[in-house]
Amino acid sequence: MIIIMNNLTKIKKLKIFFVAAEAAPFIKIGGLGEVMRSLPRAMKELGHDARLFIPKYAKIEADKFPMELEIGELDIAPNEKDPHGLLVSNVLKHLDKESGITAYFLENMEYYEKRANTYSYGDDTIRWVLLSKGALEFIRRSDWKPDVIIASDWQTGFIPNLIKTEFKDDSILSRIATIFVIHNLKFQGMFDPHFVPELEADSGQGPIPDFNDPHILKLNGARRGILYADIINTVSPTYAKEILTPEFGEKLEEILREKRDALYGTLNGIDNEKFNPETDADIPAHYSRSAPAGRYHNKIALQKSFGLPEDDKIFVMGFVNRLTEQKGVDLLKEIAPSLFDNLDFQLVIVGTGDTKYRTAFKELQEKYPARVADAVLIPSRFEPSGLVQMEAMRYGAIPIVRKTGGLADTVTDYYPGIDHGTGFVFEKYEPYAFLIAIVRAWQAYRNKKEWTGLVKRAMSQDFSWKKSAKDYVKLCYSAINKRQSDAPGE
Ligand code: GLC
Repeated sequence: MIIIMNNLTKIKKLKIFFVAAEAAPFIKIGGLGEVMRSLPRAMKELGHDARLFIPKYAKIEADKFPMELEIGELDIAPNEKDPHGLLVSNVLKHLDKESGITAYFLENMEYYEKRANTYSYGDDTIRWVLLSKGALEFIRRSDWKPDVIIASDWQTGFIPNLIKTEFKDDSILSRIATIFVIHNLKFQGMFDPHFVPELEADSGQGPIPDFNDPHILKLNGARRGILYADIINTVSPTYAKEILTPEFGEKLEEILREKRDALYGTLNGIDNEKFNPETDADIPAHYSRSAPAGRYHNKIALQKSFGLPEDDKIFVMGFVNRLTEQKGVDLLKEIAPSLFDNLDFQLVIVGTGDTKYRTAFKELQEKYPARVADAVLIPSRFEPSGLVQMEAMRYGAIPIVRKTGGLADTVTDYYPGIDHGTGFVFEKYEPYAFLIAIVRAWQAYRNKKEWTGLVKRAMSQDFSWKKSAKDYVKLCYSAINKRQSDAPGE
């Protein structure tokens, strides 16, 4: 054990490989994409060599992100027939000059290049097994060999799986430690885990079927990631506890409980340089924590752009999130009529929802983020971490949140008169509980001094990646340590 620790301390600069289905600025659908932009940067700033591996989707703008061929024709499935060359894949490379991060892209015509969207195809599992196998084959062929792979969500859960099974005797791959990060346990494969009959559920034990075997579509990537990774991480301490219960465990609570010793919850951060009210080019007026009044110019601009009456006194609330059940849209729908009948306020809803809505809304979301409103509604049913509340607070938009997951870890409830709290928190997932929180916020807003205090407190919170990135480094060391002691003699 001591010898292992000595070895580890010698590895000063870790080589960390992030593999995911999305990463900003190349491609971003949700919070995962944002985390894949900012976490590798934060780890790089700590002195480590963090690199990224994602598919090369057609949507990634080639002129904005010049790429060169790194490795041609990967041997992704040497023992499988591929008469039409569907699996032919290359790896391209792009160096981001500003951050110094190298990103690799798996290029494949059939599975990425030809698709207009990122997710939700009838053969998705094939696309993600391809990504997972592509990442590993890349490592075998590349001169750059990571110490640890950080695989995010079910799309890359096959990586820990392959390392521990198919490649257990591979002299290179078998030495690499893995961390499986759960950003959202609801997504486990091409199905809703609650509707899979017990007998058909993927136990995670069998081999990964060939690409042309229809059984491949039934794989549960999240379960496999959890079963085989050296370390499992989720994106907040509260969510790490919640997923051990049937309410949040999405049917994986038992295997998670079995792997409890290897399970962690590390809160996401935000990129404080990108999200900065003093410099942000997306907002018309800049302001700071010491003089937050400047933000009201932005409120007027928001009202203008949404065709709302321009009034800097009225309470403006925003809802900016995926329009899905997870985010509590049904609660909002239910209370909206009473709210409009009884309170004077404005509501701006900007949603990215199913694919069909996404394109239309995306532009709006980028341009007029919730952070410009007075308050932001996040009544999520569950929220592994949530980034919107942190971004909002950084800009002095007050979050109204349900006490779950990362929301519980980042927002403290306001209490009048004693300079306490950074937002409004409610516990039960029910319309009245949400309504009461909104009314409390609306009332607090009428007291300018109290509200300004609240805004300043919210803006003073530090959600930068600094601490969490250090925790991820520790997780990397634990994973490497575990891998070394599990594979003696190597
Ligand atoms: C998922 C979760 C969200 C989290 C994000 C990044 O989108 O739903 O809570 O912030 O991943 O980890």
